[in-house]
Formats: sequence, C-alpha cells, structure tokens
Amino acid sequence: MPGQQEQHSRSRAAQEWESPGYESPLPVTEQSNPLSRDIDRAGPGQIVRVLQECDAEVFQGDLEPDSQYKRLYSESVVQTLKKVAERVNAILKDPEDCLIVLSGCGTSGRIAFLLSNTFNRILARHQQRPVYSYIIAGGDRALLTSQEAPEDSPSLGAQVLKETCVGKKNVLFIGITCGLSAPFVAGQLDFCLNNLDTFTPVLVGFNPAHMARNEPIHGWPHTFRQVTERMLDMLETQRAFILNPVVGPEAISGSSRMKGGTATKVLLESLLLLGHRAAHTHREINHQAILDCIRAYERVHEITYSKIEDLAGVVGKAGMSLQKQGHVYYLGWRTLGVMGIIDASECVPTFGADPWDIRGFMSGGFSEMNNKDGNLSSLGPEFSIDHKDFMDNILPSLGEHDTVIFIFTVDDDFGDVEKLADQVKLKTSNVQAICHEHRGHSFPTKVNDIFLSNILKINWIPPAGDADDSFFMRLQWELSTKWMLNAISTGAHILKGKVYKNYMIDLKVTNSKLYRRAIGILQRFTGCSWMQGERALLKALYRVEELSEEMATADVSRHTRAANMSDRVVPTALVVLQTGCSVSQAQAQLSECPVIRDAVEACLTSVCH
Ligand code: F6P
Repeated sequence: MPGQQEQHSRSRAAQEWESPGYESPLPVTEQSNPLSRDIDRAGPGQIVRVLQECDAEVFQGDLEPDSQYKRLYSESVVQTLKKVAERVNAILKDPEDCLIVLSGCGTSGRIAFLLSNTFNRILARHQQRPVYSYIIAGGDRALLTSQEAPEDSPSLGAQVLKETCVGKKNVLFIGITCGLSAPFVAGQLDFCLNNLDTFTPVLVGFNPAHMARNEPIHGWPHTFRQVTERMLDMLETQRAFILNPVVGPEAISGSSRMKGGTATKVLLESLLLLGHRAAHTHREINHQAILDCIRAYERVHEITYSKIEDLAGVVGKAGMSLQKQGHVYYLGWRTLGVMGIIDASECVPTFGADPWDIRGFMSGGFSEMNNKDGNLSSLGPEFSIDHKDFMDNILPSLGEHDTVIFIFTVDDDFGDVEKLADQVKLKTSNVQAICHEHRGHSFPTKVNDIFLSNILKINWIPPAGDADDSFFMRLQWELSTKWMLNAISTGAHILKGKVYKNYMIDLKVTNSKLYRRAIGILQRFTGCSWMQGERALLKALYRVEELSEEMATADVSRHTRAANMSDRVVPTALVVLQTGCSVSQAQAQLSECPVIRDAVEACLTSVCH
C-alpha cells in the first residue's frame, strides 16, 4: 500500500499534465504521463501499480471546477452519449436501409471490429438482421498484424466507407481516432459532412478539439483540425457529434492502445448498450443510466486491479520469457481469444517487437473470429490463429523459457481447456491462467489442480436483468482481460528493456504520425532542432552517412515505406545525435548492447563512448 506522502505526490503528478502549457504543443494523447516517468526502472509489482493509476485517470472526474478539459463523467460528454444513444435506438427501431459503421486505424479499428460483432450478435438474439459494420484501415489483415501506412490516406478511408454504405439511406458513422489525428478517419468524416442527408458523423477521440492534428495531409486539401472545426459548427443542430473526453497521457507515451482503447470501449459500449436497451426493452436513455453504465466499468477497473499481486506474478514470468529470448503465448476462448490476438498484434509497432515474441491464438480460429474476409491463414504464418495451429506449429518446440497464458471464462468448454493445458504442461511448467467466473457459476475445483498456483481468477457479480445484460458481463470480462493483457505485454517489454523512461524508444516509423513522434523523441532527449532530428532519423532509416538529395527532399510517405525494412532506427539516430558518431558506429555500439534502454541511457549519460 502506498504511504500518504507517496499518494499525495502521485495526485500532484496526476494534476501536472492538466496544468496549462504542460508539454505544449503536444496534444494530451502524445504527452508523457508524470505518473509513469520511472516505469522503465520498476519491477513487475510497481509496473502494475503505475498502470493501475494511469488507467484510473480514465474515470477521473473534473479535478478543478474550471478545468480546461472535459472528462468521461463531464455533463457535456454524458449529454452527447445520450444523444448518440438515441440515434442508435431510432435506427434499431426502424433498421431498413440503415447502417451503423464503426471505423478506425490500428487498435481503434480492432475495437470497431469487436463492437460491431458483439452488437450484431445481440441483434441476432432478437431475430434482427445485422445493422453494424466495421472498417479497419488496411482491411482485415490489420486485425492481426500491424498495417500502419493506410492510416495516412484520407481518400482510401472515404472510398472504403462509400463501398460499405452502398444502398443505405441512413448511416450513423462512428470514426474513432484517439489522437484526433488519423487522415484515414478524416477522409471518412469529410465524406459524411459532404453527404449529410445520408450520414451522421460521430468523432470519437481523447484530445480537446483545439488539439486535433493540424499539419497538412499529403495530397489532401484539409487538416484533421479543419474537419473537426466543421463538425463543431454542426453540434448545435445535431447533424454531427464529437465525443472527446480527455483521459490523460498514456502510461507509455503515445501508446493509444492502452487508455485510448479502453476509453473507446467504455464510451461506445455504454451508448450502444443503452440504445439497445431502449429499443428492445423500452428502457429510458437518461443521464442516470449512462452514469450507471460508466460506473460499472469503473468498478471493473477496481476489481481487476484488486488482483495486483497475481497480475504482477504473470508480468514477471512473461518478462523473464522475453529476456531469455523465449515467447509469450495467449490461448483464449471466444472474444477473450480475440483480446489476446489484438494485444499481441500491437506489440510489433509499439515496441519494435518481433511478431513471434508475443502471439495470440483462439479456439475455433477464423470461424469464431467472424471477420469480413473470413479465413486469412493463407496470408502467412502470422495469420495462423487457431488453437490447432498452436498445437501443430508451436507446441513441438515449446520450452521452459516460454510462458503460455490460458484465457477463458466459466461459460467456455472446460474440458477443452483441460485437454490443451495437459498437452502444454508436458512442454513447460510456465503455464498461467486468467479466468472469469460469476456468482452461481464457478469453475470445478480441478481448475486449481490444472493451473496450481498460477491462476488469476476473478469472481464477478452478474448484472441483474435480461439476456442482453448477460452480454454486459462479457463486455466487462473483455475490458478486465484487456487491462491484464496490456499490463502483461507492456510489463514484459519494459522488463526486456524496450522502454526508456516512459517512451517506446524503438518504435517503427511506419506512418506520418509515428514519424513525427520519433522526431519529437529525438528532440526531447538530445535537445536538437526539428531539422537536425529529422536528418538523423533519415540517415538511420536509410543506413547512410550522408543523405542524397532525393532522400532529403522525398515525401514522408517514402520514408515511412522504407521504415518497414530498418531496425532500431530511433535508437541509432539518438546515438548519432548525442555522440556525433557515424551511423555505422552507432549501429555497432547498439549491437554490443542488446538491451536498448541500457544502450540509450549509457549514450545519453555519456557513460559509454
Ligand atoms: O499509427 C499506429 C497507431 O498509433 C496504433 O498503435 C494505434 O492503434 C493507431 O495508430 C490508431 O491511432 P488513433 O486512434 O489515434 O488514430
């Protein structure tokens, strides 16, 4: 338990980023969180505690009455949730020629996929046809692997939206971009704004509107901020909506898969659930109902993190696996399997991880996944996601250095879990379980025999109500699992030394947002100018000592394409800037120091020459 003084200094730290001018001109979603400044030096228990505090900020009320930021519980946010939920209700009551489209890039698109499937399933229960559709930049392959480049294309976004909505007369479009930044989503919102007789656009993100990205978008006449401003003008007439509470900087700077993904899930599930309840059981969509829904998710945070010791144990094991060049495998059932696959896929762009370091598999594979394009396994080994694939391809070489995490609920086939666990235990003793049960439905006692002490079990109180409310239980399990898996994969990479202070120092610069973020990191740690940072980044990226005229003047999109081929670009640029050495010397220095954090730290404190 933290002492009083520690708690006091933490709440001061929490307020720090709310003060005017904090890390200006960065938007909140790109800032570094004062709570996690030393996370790179923390052990598993402290890592989880810091994540708990950062995640708690999602639910924080207004700290000051005149705070410059809206929060999740702010009156205006609740009002907007209510209005959008009413639109959902209206569509569900008269769904002919209607569509609700959820769209985003990276994690935002993956959450769009998850929600669209969940709410179509709820409709199926009521014998209603699907009304939801999802779009993810880069298509279905982006559900499982990192596809960052399509995020930069507004015209592609608009085109996919147009194709998705052919023949529809009334479309509620929900564009998710945590940073109010993705050109792909900007193109879609612009398309909606130009076709308001059919489309009602809703923008979801976690920066105030004046922090929406304002740099020019290649080959497009508007910036994201200009699109946002057009939407602001339409709020009054309810022809467009913006849902943008601030949830604070991410624990790992810019890693919007964490709080951004969580807040997206909480906001959208709350409004969709209320829309469904109104349509199917005539319950009123009011202020109180919205607050109750958000509070239920806040309670999920408390319950999940009440398991801090157990969770820290799993983080420690996963970290050890990565340190020893082993792997972490998630074996999940149903949507918790999807949560595992999503979490694993995010580690590649976030930490510069190898796609094989952390991998997710789910029972039933693509037939259970229910994605638009069906079975993608022919696209390559990283698209093999069935437990069967794990058994065929991974199990034979599984060893003690690997961590295998089973993720299931009391509603899943326990015999299936047991059978798989027995096989895995023949290969490694490092078998962990994350599982959810609820009052009146407990696991058989042999679950303890199978997983021994390595079991992180949460017993939930199911929401009282009808069958739709049992879906709410599953949504809460998903969120709880998301928090745990984010903690495991983030913690494991921190323990492996992939994070410096609270920055993902080895990120891949595969789109314009990541390119700018990388230069910002170089500026922050070396004090260089933007131009110096950019030149060093490009030299590291093309692995050259001098930039050719063509390289120096090419468009960012060429650089971000090239970035797919290069490793350790940002750390190399950092060493070059800090020590004045050549690119090849920097690469040699880094290769002698396999732990990126230590190499960077040594360079910045000039211990290593
Ligand atoms: O560009 C990569 C990325 O940062 C992903 O990690 C993230 O999920 C995605 O962009 C979407 O970001 P946003 O929701 O801010 O558009």
